[in-house]
Amino acid sequence: MNIILLGPPGSGKGTQSSHLAKKYSLNHLSTGDVLRSEIVSGSKLGKEASKYMNEGNLVPDEVIIGMVSQKLSAIDSVLLDGFPRTLNQAKALDNELSNLSKTINHVLYFNVPSEELIQRLSQRLSCRNCPNTFTKSENNPSCKSDSSCEEQELYQREDDKPEAISIRMKNYTDLTEPLLNFYKEKNLMTNIDANKSIAEVSEQIDKIIHI
Ligand code: AP5
Repeated sequence: MNIILLGPPGSGKGTQSSHLAKKYSLNHLSTGDVLRSEIVSGSKLGKEASKYMNEGNLVPDEVIIGMVSQKLSAIDSVLLDGFPRTLNQAKALDNELSNLSKTINHVLYFNVPSEELIQRLSQRLSCRNCPNTFTKSENNPSCKSDSSCEEQELYQREDDKPEAISIRMKNYTDLTEPLLNFYKEKNLMTNIDANKSIAEVSEQIDKIIHI
């Protein structure tokens, strides 16, 4: 089974992914997480990507498509989180899956009003060592106490600062929203009301996927 999580920044794609990947034995492929680990490792790709990411801009299609294609060929079922994000990327994904004799089974669109997205992003704290996220309002959040991760210190992503958030929102509207029609026309898309609690969002997804 191959699933795409589509939605604006802060809509909860990453939060739902860990639960979904475990429950349905999917390989979670988050392009944002892959790029952030490239930055931490100091690789050439990471250095190139950080210029775009810190400002809230998308990394160029050719870089992302190459990176995803390489990973797709090495895994079976995939949960795509943050890819595709442009029509070019969506078309490249179709080609790549078709070459591998695979198809997309579901595209889940996480619908959340923009005021709530801004609130979530500006309150988010992230772990440098793993994909876990927390909110500033939690009492002394720490990754160490919450998981097997050893990291004590949380940080605010550069792109979760107000100026970068506005650029990300605009990029989402201009470049990613056209994918809603692309997948609607293919009859693959289901709307998720992601402005509910984390547990309620999971329940909606389970009802759609139920293997
Ligand atoms: P990426 O990391 O993919 O960022 P994003 O898509 O902007 O998504 P986020 O990680 O910000 O949000 P999310 O939907 O995962 O929400 P989360 O679960 O964390 O990409 C970062 C950058 O990398 C891009 O800007 C770009 O530069 C580059 N990039 C990545 N992919 C690319 C591509 N394909 N092409 C080009 N460039 C690419 O939740 C957010 C917060 O809300 C958390 O604090 C969480 O705890 C909380 N929360 C989650 N669910 C709920 C809920 N139901 N109720 C209340 N709070 C909730």
